[in-house]
Amino acid sequence: MIMDNFIALMIASHDTTSILLSLMVWKMSRDPEVYQKILEEQMGILENREGREEKLTWDDIQKMKYTWRVAQELMRTIPPLFGSFRTALKDTTFGGYVIPKGWQVLSVTHSTHMDKDIFDNPMEFDPSRFENSSKRISPYTYVPFGGGLHKCIGNEFTRVETLTMVHNLVTQYEWTQVHPEEVITRQPVPYPSMGLPIKIKPRTML
Ligand code: HEM
Repeated sequence: MIMDNFIALMIASHDTTSILLSLMVWKMSRDPEVYQKILEEQMGILENREGREEKLTWDDIQKMKYTWRVAQELMRTIPPLFGSFRTALKDTTFGGYVIPKGWQVLSVTHSTHMDKDIFDNPMEFDPSRFENSSKRISPYTYVPFGGGLHKCIGNEFTRVETLTMVHNLVTQYEWTQVHPEEVITRQPVPYPSMGLPIKIKPRTML
């Protein structure tokens, strides 16, 4: 039982965040507009810090709004986990279907993430949909971290880890993708089809 919980925690925390970090590197490598905006945001944070703080601060993390929106949009279009299981504790009806007590139901993340009535032009990669806009995202429709009582406990940690890693990567290094044509497959979690090799070197400051 203890081993079981440790293995679950390792998979829940390690595989998911390493997928998101890989997706960030993959996206920045192939989308110059997204990369440029992330670079500007992160360089701005670095410049503001110079002479004051050596390391990233909590306030810096809060300023990384565009970078996090890219991560959010990646998790909408390529959710690290494809869904969550729930067991019916009593006979239930949902959407005209009878779900008998004891049955397991899989709620599939893409079913709302790719619904055009919830997200306009769902196939389009648009980080701005996570800005505080007039179109509010209804509860339980954007669910990369699940929802309800068993919602992921690591979502805030994920944000800090992802933003810290991206900040250090883009401000200190430059890289190119070895296989620019590389796609993301599912096995069953998203995985770069060629392992995402990159050529990386320290950033040359102008
Ligand atoms: C990109 C990063 C992550 C994603 C996409 C993710 C996604 C999810 C999802 C979809 C669930 C199921 C929620 C549900 O059933 O409604 C979950 C549960 C869980 N996650 Fe995460 N997770 C991430 C990172 C983490 C991290 C960093 C940790 C730990 C440090 C973590 C620990 C857990 C645990 C313990 C549960 C089970 C919660 C429960 O059953 O009450 N996750 N996560």
